[in-house]
Amino acid sequence: MRIACDYATRFGRPRIDALRRPDTFDLREQASSDISGGDHREWHARQLATGCHRSGWCLVLVAGIRRKGKSMRVFVTGATGALGRYLVPSLVGAGHEVTASTRTPGKTGTLRAAGAVPVVVDGRDREAVIAAVRTAAPEVIVHEMTALTGMRNLRNPDKLFASTNELRVLGTDNLLAAAAAAGTRRVVAQSYAGGGPDERPGPPKTEDEPSRWRSVRSAMAGPAAIAHVEKAVPEQAPEGLVLRYGGFYGPGTGNFLLEAVRKRQVPVIGGGTGVWSFIEITDAAAATVAAIGRGGPGIYNVVDDHPAPVAEWLPYLAEVVGAKPPLRLPAWLGRMLAGEFLVVQMTSSRGYSNEKAKKELGWEPRYASWREGFGAWVSG
Ligand SMILES: NC(=O)c1ccc[n+]([C@@H]2O[C@H](COP(=O)([O-])OP(=O)(O)OC[C@H]3O[C@@H](n4cnc5c(N)ncnc54)[C@H](OP(=O)(O)O)[C@@H]3O)[C@@H](O)[C@H]2O)c1
Repeated sequence: MRIACDYATRFGRPRIDALRRPDTFDLREQASSDISGGDHREWHARQLATGCHRSGWCLVLVAGIRRKGKSMRVFVTGATGALGRYLVPSLVGAGHEVTASTRTPGKTGTLRAAGAVPVVVDGRDREAVIAAVRTAAPEVIVHEMTALTGMRNLRNPDKLFASTNELRVLGTDNLLAAAAAAGTRRVVAQSYAGGGPDERPGPPKTEDEPSRWRSVRSAMAGPAAIAHVEKAVPEQAPEGLVLRYGGFYGPGTGNFLLEAVRKRQVPVIGGGTGVWSFIEITDAAAATVAAIGRGGPGIYNVVDDHPAPVAEWLPYLAEVVGAKPPLRLPAWLGRMLAGEFLVVQMTSSRGYSNEKAKKELGWEPRYASWREGFGAWVSG
């Protein structure tokens, strides 16, 4: 029982020390067999009754409660990423049969321990993807493949995001071909509710509006790759859903931003008028679990309730991490130091509305605002 409780502490509300050592996300085999599948809700109720992690929050339980309908076979790609590491145990806990993919043989133990059947496949290898999906015969495919680890300097986005863009174009096409070959009806794919640059100011964007980013010479391929996902998935899968996630933050999303803000390395540029949308990582995972069984084909903005200008959220984050207020730079100087892409993100993005996701996926973010979410993230 102690081992199982450990599991909920880690996956429900991971501690900062666990995050520094990703291997501690591993479920021990025994824990997995103790509480796998539908037993989890019953087990969790016992934990609450005995006072164990009384004030904790259990992602597995939330997913289980929200699950409508039957258990399904789900094929998750990018299963070891920032989102996947919450998504896989949530799906398993909700009673689904999960096949989880990685490119890296050394990560299969983590996936197996989380209750999934691991498979090693490169998303760019069309034949291998089709074969893996046919073997799993899933009812739902989830595309969470990106290559975003270690991002630092945004001066040349097309170079920086080249692998991710490839996964968004070729990787998406391969998964859609695999879905067709395996008879998979539902495909849920990752998109981005990211900072502009938007063509004109306005209210938070709804799903009816294409992203329509103003072109920036150094960042042409990224918007095109995102537009490809948003068009191809709803058009080609019988039930294609695209989740535009806001900027991820929270446990397991990396400490780069926090460290940079602590060191006053992230200035407010050009007045910080650009509006950004955020989503806490476990809230993003919960929306993805909801999208497995709910919502019609189309695009969903998975963001919190409060899009906010950089001039508001960045000083607040600095305060939360105990740093001095961020420096302020005029746009021309920001352009020289950080490049055009960051400047336009900080000055001309619009943010996104989550009304549709709430209504049609039956989902609510636990952190309705980045204000509470940043506090929880930093305090661990
Ligand atoms: N909306 C957002 O703000 C957003 C979205 C995504 C990520 N991020 C951030 O970016 C950072 C890194 O993201 P991450 O942890 O998700 O890591 P990542 O390096 O982007 O990898 C994500 C997943 O994609 C898989 N993958 C990568 N290339 C692949 C390929 N060629 N074929 C098949 N699978 C492939 C990885 O597999 P392996 O198991 O082989 O590594 C991993 O499971 C995090 O800080 C995260 O918060 C932000």
